Amino acid sequence: MSSSILVTGGAGFIGSALVRRLLLSTESNIVVLDALTYAGNLENLDGVIDGHRCRFLRGSITDTRLVETILQGEKFDGIINCAAESHVDRSIESAVPFIHTNVVGTQVLLDVARRQNVRRFLQMSTDEVYGDLPRNADAFRSTSPLAPSSPYSASKAAADLLVLAAHRTHGQDVVITRCSNNYGPRQFPEKFIPLMILNALEGRPLPVYGDGRQIRDWIHVDDHCEAVIRAYHDGDSGAVYTIGGDCERENIDVVHMILKATASASAVTHVTDRPGHDRRYAIDVSETATRLGWTPSIRFEDGLAETIEWYRTHQAWWTNVKSGDYRTYYERHYGSFHEGTL
Ligand SMILES: NC(=O)c1ccc[n+]([C@@H]2O[C@H](COP(=O)([O-])OP(=O)(O)OC[C@H]3O[C@@H](n4cnc5c(N)ncnc54)[C@H](O)[C@@H]3O)[C@@H](O)[C@H]2O)c1
Repeated sequence: MSSSILVTGGAGFIGSALVRRLLLSTESNIVVLDALTYAGNLENLDGVIDGHRCRFLRGSITDTRLVETILQGEKFDGIINCAAESHVDRSIESAVPFIHTNVVGTQVLLDVARRQNVRRFLQMSTDEVYGDLPRNADAFRSTSPLAPSSPYSASKAAADLLVLAAHRTHGQDVVITRCSNNYGPRQFPEKFIPLMILNALEGRPLPVYGDGRQIRDWIHVDDHCEAVIRAYHDGDSGAVYTIGGDCERENIDVVHMILKATASASAVTHVTDRPGHDRRYAIDVSETATRLGWTPSIRFEDGLAETIEWYRTHQAWWTNVKSGDYRTYYERHYGSFHEGTL
């Protein structure tokens, strides 16, 4: 029987898309470890957890004893670490949970993986570790210097360095993927694209930070997951792979695309910009294309239309998500200009 893969954070947006894809593309059994924070949602794995090919365990990656017990219990080929506190704005409000999960949790997984002879460790990282890219500069490559701007991106950069240190010091088999901004079904609505889609669908104002001219390199979550799976199987030990959609767009243009696609009469409301907000991210995918034989395949216009349709047809999913912690967060963060409209 083939060995298993542990996917941490598998009840989140990207983790759940990755689990679906892994089940189709590998023979391995999948074990999901997720703490089910406000961002984790078992509904993201509906129809996927069967208790056999794919199992779910609730717990934190910071819990050494739990991780040790899981990895001792059966033969694991590898770990794909998607678990994280992932929202920049929340990290600005309160950074400690980001250090705890993103930094300490990653080290716990590395240590236990080494003790239990887990072959491969893939760290899902972000292009935000490279910081702000000037408009006229070349896109980020794997070797671009780390210059994170937010507590979130600093915690992800710290984790990347720990992963590389485990490779250098202990010879651990590690791979890091650094991806640009993802969009697609099941993304928690505090993130830019689902926030704008849901506000447009509900006829509420669309809160755009500052002048809205920040540039992001959008990639569909399925393209990202395909690249991660290739890096997991074929990536060189100790290597960093940059992943992007080759699709730079200004935020304000994305907002107008969403307004048009939803035929919404919602107003755009410019709100005070995020402190330290990076103006541009962009990824050069040529290196990864050569090394992994991967390129993004979903056109932004098509992926965005499909994503809007998903949110339009999954109202129960987002009504549930928005009823809990998210509501408190939203009112605290954006409440000053349309309090009570959530
Ligand atoms: N969303 C993006 O655009 C993007 C881009 C590049 C990289 N990434 C990275 O991809 C990964 C997944 O991002 P996402 O957007 O799916 O995030 P998400 O917030 O949707 O999901 C994170 C998941 O991790 C779980 N989690 C949090 N703390 C945990 C802990 N201590 N132990 C176990 N589970 C825990 C949550 O319950 C949730 O299910 C993150 O590492 C993020 O940094 C995200």
